[in-house]
Amino acid sequence: MSDPVDGDADTGFTDKEGIPFVGAGPGDPELLTVAGRRLVEEADLVVHAGSLVNSELLDEYCDHAEQVNSVGKDLEELIPLMADAYESGETVVRLHSGDPAVYGAALEQMDALESEGVPTYLVPGVTSAFAASATLRTQLTLNEVANHVVFTRPQGRTLSAEEDHISDFVGFGDTTVCIYLGTHAVEETMDRLLDEGHDPETPVAVVYHASWPDEDVIEGTIETIGQKVSEAGYRASALVMIGEAVTGSDYERSFLYGDWARGGDAPNDGDDSETQERDTQ
Ligand SMILES: C[S@@+](CC[C@H](N)C(=O)[O-])C[C@H]1O[C@@H](n2cnc3c(N)ncnc32)[C@H](O)[C@@H]1O
Repeated sequence: MSDPVDGDADTGFTDKEGIPFVGAGPGDPELLTVAGRRLVEEADLVVHAGSLVNSELLDEYCDHAEQVNSVGKDLEELIPLMADAYESGETVVRLHSGDPAVYGAALEQMDALESEGVPTYLVPGVTSAFAASATLRTQLTLNEVANHVVFTRPQGRTLSAEEDHISDFVGFGDTTVCIYLGTHAVEETMDRLLDEGHDPETPVAVVYHASWPDEDVIEGTIETIGQKVSEAGYRASALVMIGEAVTGSDYERSFLYGDWARGGDAPNDGDDSETQERDTQ
């Protein structure tokens, strides 16, 4: 079998034409995908998302390439920069933090490049919510605890108060709410949840720089976490997770490794979709 990084395995992502928009993962260079690593190693120009992409990753895999930080550059500057390099025959990679599909604003760049005749495509990465759940040693969905996961952000310059649905999501009860772009607003967010009558004891974890060497975890509740985060001084680069699943406790054994696994009746027997899922987990 060929080595997936050094060999000639066809990942399906590395032989496409155009500029790949690659998810760099949450920080640890080892959490860059094999396809992502191969693409950046072959790049002449890497346009990256500044401090959200670990400089260790840039040093390790992109040292040979020209590196441009996209922070503070508008589309009018970024698009010609990438399009001109691509058209002059350079291999260009756009590196986003985590997964480009989550709060990444990748599509507007891709559409602008395509309208200039430059093909683009996406290469997924590990989003920070997944790194944070790994840090917490828990699951975002947990049997009898959390059946759903939400990726959201709090109100602010981009989102109006009416568009902020964090309270609704927490109100579902069996949902793990992962808040991106909300480190600076943990106190206000929790105050709103308290004002809206949510259980002050609801567990909350804040994972700063998940998978980075200076990773930090602050655990508390809707009532206590605001003060703790404010004392720690974090204003950015953390994932705020609300819900019982963050504690990784009080779950029930899943059907997967119980009677169901031995061919017994699952409580949902008769539901074909459940039966089919058994084979896929
Ligand atoms: C512009 S969004 C980009 C999200 C990214 N596309 C992803 O999939 O993780 C930036 C936000 O992601 C979260 N974030 C990014 N990297 C993180 C990390 N290593 N640990 C915790 N949160 C992180 C923070 O909430 C930060 O404010």
